[in-house]
Amino acid sequence: MTLDIACVVAARPNFMKMAPVVEALRARPGICARLVHTGQHYDEAMSRVFFDELGMPAPDVNLDVGSGSHAAQTARVLERFDEWLEAARPDLVVVAGDVNSTLACALAAAKRAIPVAHVESGLRSRDRAMPEELNRILTDALADLLFATSADAVQNLEREGIDAAKIHLVGNSMIDSLRRHLPAARARRAPERFGVERGGYAVATIHRPSNVDDPEQLSRVLEALAALSSSLPVVLPVHPRTAARIESMGAAGAARHSARRLLVVPPLGYLDFLGLMEAARLVLTDSGGVQEETTALGVRCITLRDTTERPITMTEGTNRLIGSDPASILPAASEALAAGPIEARMPALWDGYAGERIAAVLARQPASGSSERREKTSPATV
Ligand code: UD1
Ligand code: UDP
Repeated sequence: MTLDIACVVAARPNFMKMAPVVEALRARPGICARLVHTGQHYDEAMSRVFFDELGMPAPDVNLDVGSGSHAAQTARVLERFDEWLEAARPDLVVVAGDVNSTLACALAAAKRAIPVAHVESGLRSRDRAMPEELNRILTDALADLLFATSADAVQNLEREGIDAAKIHLVGNSMIDSLRRHLPAARARRAPERFGVERGGYAVATIHRPSNVDDPEQLSRVLEALAALSSSLPVVLPVHPRTAARIESMGAAGAARHSARRLLVVPPLGYLDFLGLMEAARLVLTDSGGVQEETTALGVRCITLRDTTERPITMTEGTNRLIGSDPASILPAASEALAAGPIEARMPALWDGYAGERIAAVLARQPASGSSERREKTSPATV
Protein backbone atom coordinates (compact mmCIF):
# COMPACT_ATOMS: atom_id res chain seq x y z
CA MET A 1 0.00 0.00 0.00
CA THR A 2 1.33 3.48 -0.86
CA LEU A 3 2.02 5.92 1.99
CA ASP A 4 0.62 9.27 0.88
CA ILE A 5 2.50 12.25 2.38
CA ALA A 6 1.68 15.94 1.84
CA CYS A 7 4.70 18.25 2.25
CA VAL A 8 3.85 21.93 2.79
CA VAL A 9 5.91 24.93 1.67
CA ALA A 10 4.86 28.56 1.99
CA ALA A 11 7.60 31.16 2.43
CA ARG A 12 11.26 31.62 1.45
CA PRO A 13 12.98 29.64 4.23
CA ASN A 14 10.60 26.68 3.83
CA PHE A 15 11.94 25.77 0.41
CA MET A 16 15.49 25.05 1.59
CA LYS A 17 14.19 23.06 4.57
CA MET A 18 11.68 20.96 2.62
CA ALA A 19 13.54 20.27 -0.66
CA PRO A 20 15.84 17.57 0.85
CA VAL A 21 12.85 15.93 2.58
CA VAL A 22 10.80 15.77 -0.61
CA GLU A 23 13.75 14.41 -2.54
CA ALA A 24 14.47 11.71 0.05
CA LEU A 25 10.79 10.73 0.22
CA ARG A 26 10.44 10.51 -3.54
CA ALA A 27 13.49 8.25 -3.73
CA ARG A 28 11.74 5.69 -1.50
CA PRO A 29 9.47 3.04 -2.98
CA GLY A 30 5.95 2.88 -1.60
CA ILE A 31 5.73 6.60 -0.85
CA CYS A 32 3.77 9.23 -2.75
CA ALA A 33 5.10 12.66 -1.66
CA ARG A 34 2.91 15.52 -2.77
CA LEU A 35 3.94 19.16 -2.51
CA VAL A 36 1.48 21.83 -1.39
CA HIS A 37 2.44 25.52 -1.75
CA THR A 38 0.22 27.76 0.34
CA GLY A 39 1.30 30.83 -1.66
CA GLN A 40 2.26 32.88 1.43
CA HIS A 41 5.25 34.08 -0.60
CA TYR A 42 4.49 34.54 -4.27
CA ASP A 43 6.93 36.98 -5.94
CA GLU A 44 9.20 35.27 -8.44
CA ALA A 45 12.23 36.17 -6.26
CA MET A 46 10.55 34.85 -3.08
CA SER A 47 9.22 31.57 -4.49
CA ARG A 48 9.70 30.41 -8.09
CA VAL A 49 13.47 30.94 -8.14
CA PHE A 50 13.92 28.46 -5.29
CA PHE A 51 12.02 25.69 -7.08
CA ASP A 52 14.30 26.14 -10.07
CA GLU A 53 17.54 26.36 -8.10
CA LEU A 54 16.81 23.62 -5.57
CA GLY A 55 15.53 21.28 -8.27
CA MET A 56 12.23 20.94 -6.45
CA PRO A 57 9.26 19.64 -8.47
CA ALA A 58 6.41 22.06 -9.18
CA PRO A 59 3.84 21.95 -6.39
CA ASP A 60 0.83 19.70 -6.89
CA VAL A 61 -1.33 22.58 -5.74
CA ASN A 62 -0.90 26.28 -4.96
CA LEU A 63 -3.44 27.63 -2.48
CA ASP A 64 -2.63 31.25 -3.47
CA VAL A 65 -3.29 32.68 -0.02
CA GLY A 66 -1.06 35.75 -0.53
CA SER A 67 -0.43 38.45 2.07
CA GLY A 68 -2.63 39.82 4.85
CA SER A 69 -2.78 40.42 8.57
CA HIS A 70 -1.65 37.49 10.72
CA ALA A 71 -5.25 36.58 11.43
CA ALA A 72 -6.43 36.89 7.83
CA GLN A 73 -3.46 35.04 6.38
CA THR A 74 -3.58 32.24 8.95
CA ALA A 75 -7.33 31.88 8.53
CA ARG A 76 -7.09 31.76 4.74
CA VAL A 77 -4.46 29.00 4.88
CA LEU A 78 -6.51 27.08 7.44
CA GLU A 79 -9.61 27.21 5.29
CA ARG A 80 -7.99 26.49 1.92
CA PHE A 81 -5.69 23.75 3.20
CA ASP A 82 -8.61 22.13 4.97
CA GLU A 83 -10.58 22.06 1.70
CA TRP A 84 -7.59 20.51 -0.02
CA LEU A 85 -7.24 17.92 2.76
CA GLU A 86 -10.87 16.97 2.43
CA ALA A 87 -10.39 16.08 -1.22
CA ALA A 88 -6.81 14.77 -1.08
CA ARG A 89 -6.87 12.82 2.22
CA PRO A 90 -3.14 12.28 2.68
CA ASP A 91 -1.94 9.86 5.37
CA LEU A 92 0.42 12.43 6.86
CA VAL A 93 1.18 16.16 6.61
CA VAL A 94 4.74 17.52 6.90
CA VAL A 95 5.26 21.20 7.78
CA ALA A 96 8.53 23.09 8.30
CA GLY A 97 9.79 26.06 10.28
CA ASP A 98 7.71 28.72 11.98
CA VAL A 99 5.74 30.80 9.49
CA ASN A 100 1.99 31.41 9.65
CA SER A 101 1.31 28.68 7.08
CA THR A 102 3.23 26.16 9.22
CA LEU A 103 0.81 26.58 12.10
CA ALA A 104 -2.31 26.86 9.94
CA CYS A 105 -1.58 23.64 8.02
CA ALA A 106 -0.66 21.76 11.21
CA LEU A 107 -3.94 22.84 12.78
CA ALA A 108 -6.06 21.93 9.74
CA ALA A 109 -4.49 18.46 9.60
CA ALA A 110 -4.73 17.86 13.36
CA LYS A 111 -8.45 18.78 13.33
CA ARG A 112 -8.96 16.08 10.73
CA ALA A 113 -6.95 13.60 12.81
CA ILE A 114 -4.28 13.43 10.11
CA PRO A 115 -0.85 12.96 11.74
CA VAL A 116 1.46 16.00 11.53
CA ALA A 117 5.26 15.98 11.27
CA HIS A 118 7.19 19.17 12.08
CA VAL A 119 10.61 19.77 10.51
CA GLU A 120 12.77 22.11 12.64
CA SER A 121 10.84 21.45 15.79
CA GLY A 122 11.72 22.67 19.30
CA LEU A 123 13.45 25.98 18.57
CA ARG A 124 12.48 28.63 21.15
CA SER A 125 13.45 32.30 21.42
CA ARG A 126 11.30 32.66 24.56
CA ASP A 127 10.05 35.93 23.10
CA ARG A 128 6.31 35.63 22.60
CA ALA A 129 6.20 39.04 20.93
CA MET A 130 7.65 37.29 17.85
CA PRO A 131 4.88 35.78 15.72
CA GLU A 132 7.21 32.89 14.90
CA GLU A 133 7.51 31.89 18.57
CA LEU A 134 3.75 31.40 18.85
CA ASN A 135 3.78 29.45 15.59
CA ARG A 136 6.57 27.19 16.91
CA ILE A 137 4.96 26.46 20.28
CA LEU A 138 1.54 25.75 18.81
CA THR A 139 2.80 23.66 15.90
CA ASP A 140 4.89 21.52 18.26
CA ALA A 141 1.89 21.06 20.54
CA LEU A 142 -0.09 19.71 17.57
CA ALA A 143 2.61 17.57 15.96
CA ASP A 144 2.86 13.79 16.22
CA LEU A 145 6.42 13.59 14.89
CA LEU A 146 8.86 16.31 15.95
CA PHE A 147 12.12 16.56 14.00
CA ALA A 148 14.74 18.55 15.88
CA THR A 149 17.89 20.12 14.45
CA SER A 150 19.88 20.18 17.70
CA ALA A 151 19.97 18.82 21.26
CA ASP A 152 18.83 22.13 22.81
CA ALA A 153 15.63 21.90 20.74
CA VAL A 154 15.00 18.39 22.09
CA GLN A 155 15.41 19.71 25.65
CA ASN A 156 12.94 22.52 24.98
CA LEU A 157 10.33 20.00 23.82
CA GLU A 158 10.91 17.70 26.78
CA ARG A 159 10.59 20.66 29.16
CA GLU A 160 7.19 21.39 27.59
CA GLY A 161 6.09 17.87 28.47
CA ILE A 162 6.10 16.48 24.93
CA ASP A 163 6.36 12.69 24.85
CA ALA A 164 10.01 11.78 24.11
CA ALA A 165 8.83 8.98 21.79
CA LYS A 166 7.55 11.61 19.34
CA ILE A 167 10.86 13.52 19.21
CA HIS A 168 13.58 12.67 16.68
CA LEU A 169 16.95 14.42 16.63
CA VAL A 170 17.70 14.30 12.91
CA GLY A 171 19.91 17.32 12.15
CA ASN A 172 19.34 20.29 9.91
CA SER A 173 17.76 19.86 6.49
CA MET A 174 18.46 23.53 5.61
CA ILE A 175 22.14 22.64 5.91
CA ASP A 176 21.54 19.61 3.64
CA SER A 177 20.53 22.13 0.96
CA LEU A 178 23.55 24.31 1.68
CA ARG A 179 26.02 21.43 1.38
CA ARG A 180 24.39 20.15 -1.75
CA HIS A 181 24.22 23.46 -3.61
CA LEU A 182 27.45 25.15 -2.52
CA PRO A 183 29.44 24.01 -5.59
CA ALA A 184 26.77 25.44 -7.92
CA ALA A 185 26.66 28.63 -5.82
CA ARG A 186 30.45 29.07 -6.10
CA ALA A 187 30.33 28.56 -9.86
CA ARG A 188 28.08 31.60 -10.25
CA ARG A 189 30.85 33.91 -8.98
CA ALA A 190 28.38 36.24 -7.27
CA PRO A 191 31.00 38.50 -5.58
CA GLU A 192 32.63 39.25 -8.93
CA ARG A 193 29.24 39.93 -10.53
CA PHE A 194 28.33 42.32 -7.71
CA GLY A 195 31.71 44.07 -8.03
CA VAL A 196 32.92 43.26 -4.49
CA GLU A 197 36.22 41.72 -3.49
CA ARG A 198 36.21 38.23 -1.93
CA GLY A 199 36.70 38.54 1.83
CA GLY A 200 36.36 42.32 1.58
CA TYR A 201 32.64 43.07 1.98
CA ALA A 202 29.65 42.47 4.23
CA VAL A 203 26.20 41.04 3.43
CA ALA A 204 23.16 42.27 5.36
CA THR A 205 19.52 41.15 5.51
CA ILE A 206 16.72 42.63 7.63
CA HIS A 207 13.05 41.76 7.60
CA ARG A 208 11.85 41.23 11.19
CA PRO A 209 8.88 43.49 12.03
CA SER A 210 10.85 44.63 15.12
CA ASN A 211 13.56 46.06 12.85
CA VAL A 212 11.64 47.27 9.84
CA ASP A 213 8.07 48.17 10.78
CA ASP A 214 9.01 51.19 12.89
CA PRO A 215 10.38 53.86 10.50
CA GLU A 216 12.73 55.27 13.16
CA GLN A 217 14.26 51.83 13.90
CA LEU A 218 14.57 51.01 10.21
CA SER A 219 16.21 54.37 9.48
CA ARG A 220 18.75 53.87 12.25
CA VAL A 221 19.62 50.35 11.05
CA LEU A 222 20.06 51.60 7.49
CA GLU A 223 22.16 54.55 8.65
CA ALA A 224 24.45 52.19 10.58
CA LEU A 225 24.84 49.97 7.49
CA ALA A 226 25.59 53.06 5.37
CA ALA A 227 28.22 54.15 7.92
CA LEU A 228 29.78 50.66 7.96
CA SER A 229 29.97 50.73 4.17
CA SER A 230 32.48 53.59 4.29
CA SER A 231 35.04 51.07 5.59
CA LEU A 232 33.56 47.82 4.21
CA PRO A 233 31.20 47.62 1.21
CA VAL A 234 27.80 46.22 2.23
CA VAL A 235 25.46 44.24 -0.05
CA LEU A 236 21.85 44.50 1.18
CA PRO A 237 19.31 42.29 -0.62
CA VAL A 238 16.00 43.79 0.43
CA HIS A 239 13.08 41.58 1.55
CA PRO A 240 9.70 42.79 0.16
CA ARG A 241 8.43 43.72 3.66
CA THR A 242 11.49 45.95 4.09
CA ALA A 243 11.23 47.31 0.54
CA ALA A 244 7.64 48.40 1.23
CA ARG A 245 8.72 50.19 4.43
CA ILE A 246 11.64 51.92 2.72
CA GLU A 247 9.33 53.07 -0.04
CA SER A 248 6.90 54.55 2.45
CA MET A 249 9.73 56.65 3.95
CA GLY A 250 9.80 58.64 0.71
CA ALA A 251 12.80 60.22 -0.99
CA ALA A 252 13.93 62.32 1.99
CA GLY A 253 13.99 59.29 4.31
CA ALA A 254 15.82 57.15 1.78
CA ALA A 255 18.47 59.83 1.18
CA ARG A 256 19.47 59.68 4.86
CA HIS A 257 20.92 56.21 4.46
CA SER A 258 22.12 56.28 0.86
CA ALA A 259 25.83 55.58 0.48
CA ARG A 260 27.88 54.72 -2.56
CA ARG A 261 29.18 51.47 -1.06
CA LEU A 262 25.85 50.31 0.37
CA LEU A 263 24.60 48.16 -2.47
CA VAL A 264 20.82 47.87 -2.14
CA VAL A 265 19.54 45.03 -4.36
CA PRO A 266 16.30 43.04 -4.74
CA PRO A 267 15.98 39.68 -2.91
CA LEU A 268 18.52 37.26 -4.35
CA GLY A 269 18.16 33.70 -5.55
CA TYR A 270 19.51 31.05 -3.20
CA LEU A 271 22.67 30.30 -5.19
CA ASP A 272 23.76 33.94 -5.50
CA PHE A 273 22.95 34.57 -1.86
CA LEU A 274 24.92 31.50 -0.70
CA GLY A 275 27.85 32.46 -2.91
CA LEU A 276 27.84 36.00 -1.52
CA MET A 277 27.63 34.81 2.09
CA GLU A 278 30.43 32.30 1.72
CA ALA A 279 32.94 34.88 0.47
CA ALA A 280 31.83 37.68 2.83
CA ARG A 281 33.99 39.02 5.64
CA LEU A 282 30.92 39.58 7.77
CA VAL A 283 27.16 39.01 7.70
CA LEU A 284 24.65 41.20 9.56
CA THR A 285 21.15 39.81 9.83
CA ASP A 286 17.92 39.28 11.72
CA SER A 287 17.11 36.12 9.76
CA GLY A 288 16.82 32.75 11.48
CA GLY A 289 18.19 30.64 8.67
CA VAL A 290 21.10 32.96 7.92
CA GLN A 291 22.41 32.52 11.50
CA GLU A 292 22.66 28.79 10.82
CA GLU A 293 24.09 29.09 7.32
CA THR A 294 26.90 31.43 8.41
CA THR A 295 27.72 28.94 11.19
CA ALA A 296 28.01 26.17 8.59
CA LEU A 297 30.04 28.40 6.26
CA GLY A 298 32.41 29.71 8.94
CA VAL A 299 31.52 33.36 8.37
CA ARG A 300 31.16 35.78 11.27
CA CYS A 301 27.52 36.76 11.82
CA ILE A 302 26.12 39.66 13.81
CA THR A 303 22.44 39.21 14.68
CA LEU A 304 20.40 42.37 15.16
CA ARG A 305 17.96 40.92 17.67
CA ASP A 306 17.49 40.63 21.45
CA THR A 307 16.97 36.86 21.40
CA THR A 308 17.71 33.88 19.23
CA GLU A 309 15.87 30.57 18.94
CA ARG A 310 19.13 29.12 17.61
CA PRO A 311 21.59 29.35 20.54
CA ILE A 312 23.76 26.63 18.99
CA THR A 313 24.87 29.18 16.38
CA MET A 314 26.48 31.12 19.23
CA THR A 315 27.79 28.25 21.38
CA GLU A 316 29.06 26.14 18.49
CA GLY A 317 29.03 28.61 15.67
CA THR A 318 30.02 32.03 14.44
CA ASN A 319 27.01 34.06 15.55
CA ARG A 320 26.93 37.00 17.97
CA LEU A 321 23.68 38.46 19.26
CA ILE A 322 24.01 42.23 19.66
CA GLY A 323 20.47 43.29 20.60
CA SER A 324 18.10 45.54 18.74
CA ASP A 325 19.75 48.92 19.34
CA PRO A 326 21.25 49.99 15.99
CA ALA A 327 23.94 51.91 17.94
CA SER A 328 25.54 48.50 18.62
CA ILE A 329 26.05 47.70 14.94
CA LEU A 330 29.23 49.68 14.24
CA PRO A 331 31.15 48.70 17.42
CA ALA A 332 30.18 45.03 16.92
CA ALA A 333 31.26 45.14 13.28
CA SER A 334 34.62 46.71 14.24
CA GLU A 335 35.21 44.00 16.82
CA ALA A 336 34.31 41.25 14.34
CA LEU A 337 36.66 42.70 11.72
CA ALA A 338 39.48 43.05 14.25
CA ALA A 339 38.98 39.45 15.43
CA GLY A 340 39.72 38.14 11.93
CA PRO A 341 38.50 34.94 10.29
CA ILE A 342 36.72 32.21 12.24
CA GLU A 343 36.60 28.46 11.61
CA ALA A 344 33.40 26.73 10.54
CA ARG A 345 32.21 24.42 13.32
CA MET A 346 29.49 22.14 12.13
CA PRO A 347 27.07 21.17 14.95
CA ALA A 348 26.37 17.43 15.30
CA LEU A 349 24.17 15.96 12.53
CA TRP A 350 24.42 19.07 10.32
CA ASP A 351 26.04 16.63 7.92
CA GLY A 352 23.85 16.77 4.81
CA TYR A 353 21.70 13.72 5.68
CA ALA A 354 18.88 15.18 7.76
CA GLY A 355 16.40 14.78 4.87
CA GLU A 356 17.24 11.05 4.65
CA ARG A 357 16.78 10.59 8.40
CA ILE A 358 13.42 12.36 8.30
CA ALA A 359 12.30 10.24 5.34
CA ALA A 360 13.36 7.07 7.17
CA VAL A 361 11.12 7.94 10.15
CA LEU A 362 8.21 9.01 7.93
CA ALA A 363 8.45 5.80 5.91
CA ARG A 364 7.58 3.79 9.04
CA GLN A 365 4.19 5.49 9.43
CA PRO A 366 1.05 3.55 8.52
CA ALA A 367 -0.60 3.98 5.09
CA SER A 368 -4.37 4.04 4.58
CA GLY A 369 -4.37 3.28 0.88
CA SER A 370 -6.00 6.62 0.00
CA SER A 371 -3.53 7.40 -2.80
CA GLU A 372 -4.60 4.24 -4.68
CA ARG A 373 -8.14 5.67 -4.74
CA ARG A 374 -7.08 9.12 -5.91
CA GLU A 375 -7.17 10.42 -9.49
CA LYS A 376 -4.09 12.01 -11.03
CA THR A 377 -4.01 15.84 -11.25
CA SER A 378 -1.62 18.13 -13.14
CA PRO A 379 0.98 20.30 -11.32
CA ALA A 380 0.20 23.86 -10.24
CA THR A 381 2.18 27.01 -11.02
CA VAL A 382 4.51 28.64 -8.47
C1 UD1 B 1 7.42 35.68 6.81
C2 UD1 B 1 7.39 34.92 8.12
C3 UD1 B 1 8.75 35.06 8.82
C4 UD1 B 1 9.88 34.65 7.90
C5 UD1 B 1 9.79 35.38 6.58
C6 UD1 B 1 10.80 34.79 5.64
C7 UD1 B 1 5.26 34.82 9.33
C8 UD1 B 1 4.52 35.34 10.49
N1 UD1 B 1 6.39 35.47 9.02
O1 UD1 B 1 7.59 37.05 7.10
O2 UD1 B 1 8.78 34.23 9.96
O3 UD1 B 1 11.10 34.95 8.53
O4 UD1 B 1 8.48 35.19 6.00
O5 UD1 B 1 11.10 35.62 4.59
O6 UD1 B 1 4.84 33.87 8.73
N2 UD1 B 1 5.44 40.35 0.23
C9 UD1 B 1 5.61 40.55 -1.11
N3 UD1 B 1 5.84 39.47 -1.90
C10 UD1 B 1 5.91 38.22 -1.43
C11 UD1 B 1 5.73 38.02 -0.06
C12 UD1 B 1 5.48 39.10 0.75
O7 UD1 B 1 5.56 41.69 -1.59
O8 UD1 B 1 6.14 37.27 -2.22
C13 UD1 B 1 5.24 41.53 1.10
C14 UD1 B 1 3.78 41.90 1.33
O9 UD1 B 1 3.68 43.29 1.39
C15 UD1 B 1 3.51 41.32 2.70
C16 UD1 B 1 4.85 41.43 3.39
O10 UD1 B 1 5.82 41.25 2.37
O11 UD1 B 1 2.49 41.98 3.37
C17 UD1 B 1 5.07 40.44 4.51
O12 UD1 B 1 4.88 39.10 4.05
P1 UD1 B 1 4.46 37.94 5.08
O13 UD1 B 1 4.55 36.62 4.43
O14 UD1 B 1 3.19 38.28 5.76
O15 UD1 B 1 5.56 38.05 6.21
P2 UD1 B 1 7.14 38.16 6.08
O16 UD1 B 1 7.58 39.45 6.66
O17 UD1 B 1 7.53 37.82 4.69
N1 UDP C 1 17.99 33.93 1.21
C1 UDP C 1 18.01 34.00 -0.18
N2 UDP C 1 18.05 35.25 -0.76
C2 UDP C 1 18.10 36.40 -0.03
C3 UDP C 1 18.07 36.29 1.38
C4 UDP C 1 18.00 35.05 1.97
O1 UDP C 1 17.98 32.98 -0.87
O2 UDP C 1 18.15 37.48 -0.64
C5 UDP C 1 17.90 32.59 1.83
C6 UDP C 1 18.92 32.27 2.92
O3 UDP C 1 20.11 31.76 2.38
C7 UDP C 1 18.16 31.23 3.75
C8 UDP C 1 16.71 31.69 3.66
O4 UDP C 1 16.65 32.55 2.51
O5 UDP C 1 18.27 29.95 3.14
C9 UDP C 1 16.34 32.46 4.89
O6 UDP C 1 15.10 33.06 4.70
P1 UDP C 1 14.62 34.35 5.49
O7 UDP C 1 15.79 35.10 6.03
O8 UDP C 1 13.67 35.06 4.59
O9 UDP C 1 13.73 33.72 6.65
P2 UDP C 1 14.03 33.27 8.16
O10 UDP C 1 15.12 32.27 8.12
O11 UDP C 1 14.38 34.49 8.93
O12 UDP C 1 12.74 32.72 8.63
